[in-house]
Amino acid sequence: MTSSLKVGVLISGRGSNLQALIDACKTANFPARIVLVISNNPDAAGLGRAEAAGIATAVIDHRDYPDRRSFDDALDGSLRAAGVDTVCLAGFMRLLTAAFLDGWHNRVLNVHPSLLPAFKGMHAQRDAIEAGVKLAGCTVHVVRPEMDSGPIIAQAAVPVLAGDDENTLAARILEMEHVIYPLALRLIAEGRVTIAGTVADTAGAAPAPSALINPSGQ
Ligand code: GRF
Repeated sequence: MTSSLKVGVLISGRGSNLQALIDACKTANFPARIVLVISNNPDAAGLGRAEAAGIATAVIDHRDYPDRRSFDDALDGSLRAAGVDTVCLAGFMRLLTAAFLDGWHNRVLNVHPSLLPAFKGMHAQRDAIEAGVKLAGCTVHVVRPEMDSGPIIAQAAVPVLAGDDENTLAARILEMEHVIYPLALRLIAEGRVTIAGTVADTAGAAPAPSALINPSGQ
């Protein structure tokens, strides 16, 4: 497909969301393809996933740069050289500067393991358990400079079950991250998402058929 959206993925570690995006891009008629994977961590397992899929990789180690601005400039140059249209953060553990995000306005996406705006930050699943919520989940959103904020494109909810700890809950949420990240990317690539201020309008996509209630009351 020649007109498909060119995606750059930024990672720092395991890369299971990267894998979900790689797998989605391999499916027939998927309207996006990954042209570059960049890691700030030379040891990120996700680099191997990209190489196995025949995708170009680059390591841009933040420790090689004196400040965030110069690190982000290096990311920017590498993404532009590869002709990237849209950037997907997938477990990328660096905050991007406002200057970088201005240059990629509404073209940087992230996945976060909570139903934003609840539970921003590094320990979303633990915070959800501690708050005693009955539904947890994940969010794909457009990235703004403030951590874990920006117009929400897609969310999935999962129940918090008796006996859950942060690891069991994280695993249940992660399964849904792997569903909604490709879904959100597809909607973007198909031009079915309109960003207006703080809100992403996804009216062009069919809504979910039902609500999830936990506990069910049975
Ligand atoms: C995911 O839980 C994602 O939501 C968060 O970091 C984790 C990355 O996992 N931002 P992986 O590297 O994609 O496996």
